[in-house]
Amino acid sequence: MRSVIDILDLSVEELDELVACANDIIANPDKYAHKCAGKKLATLFFEPSTRTRLSFEAAMYELGGNVLSMSDAKSSSAAKGESVADTAKTISCYADIIAMRHPKEGAPLVASLNASVPVINAGDGGHNHPTQTLADLLTISREKGRFDNITVGFCGDLKFGRTVHSLISALSRYENVKFVLISPEELKLPSYVKKDIIQQNNLEYVQTTDLEAVMPELDILYMTRVQRERFFNEEDYLRLKDSYILTPEKLENAKPDLTIMHPLPRVNEISVAVDEDPRACYFKQVLNGKYMRMALILKLLEVK
Ligand code: NCD
Repeated sequence: MRSVIDILDLSVEELDELVACANDIIANPDKYAHKCAGKKLATLFFEPSTRTRLSFEAAMYELGGNVLSMSDAKSSSAAKGESVADTAKTISCYADIIAMRHPKEGAPLVASLNASVPVINAGDGGHNHPTQTLADLLTISREKGRFDNITVGFCGDLKFGRTVHSLISALSRYENVKFVLISPEELKLPSYVKKDIIQQNNLEYVQTTDLEAVMPELDILYMTRVQRERFFNEEDYLRLKDSYILTPEKLENAKPDLTIMHPLPRVNEISVAVDEDPRACYFKQVLNGKYMRMALILKLLEVK
């Protein structure tokens, strides 16, 4: 029985297998329509979500399985003070696999140590979000055809943006990947990612506050939302929230084959005018996320 709490729980070969499986699902959806018949996925979300929860649920339905959903922590026994460990033991009695989002870093790990079924981390606080990374990797694979020899710019809230931390971890295992880290001083990448992942793997990186200056170098631009819910005070959020707003003008010096990504939800950081640009891939990411979650569910349930 295997859980996925960190993207590094999956080897490079397994990521390739998941991408291949997702591409096969896209090409032959009928082949997969009953693969999870009789199986149940529980979605336990203790934080807001649109895409992640619904894509997990859509993924399970498209595999012919069923879903038990707990979308509102306020209506669960967590509100009575139940521990994550006890909740995980309980849900294991009902479901074959669990997807959990929690505001506390490490909560899905605790759940996985107590559950008797696989647990998937659907986002833990400002820490990690491995299944968004799966969506991102399928997008990069389909758009670029490779994970190596790329320059990836991450822009916005690199401190609290868990999708950034997980994607950097995943890409750190490929050759000749360069990271351009674009953020305000206060929202720089945490040192555990910079030291333990980027420097540890001897990867090239630069840190800057100036998006336009680095735009011409980028193969991928990964925009992020300033994570309001992780701030200690509203004043700091208001000061930093519009640090970067991507507009068609700012893309004038970008590569013609730039891939523009964003995990969504977008607040203000990409102007809607950019949506018309053929390089905008953020809604493709949404769809890719469903296929990669289908592939991951099949893998963890060991369905052939
Ligand atoms: C992200 C998240 O929850 O971390 N959203 C998502 O799952 N696609 C990004 C965000 O909330 O900004």
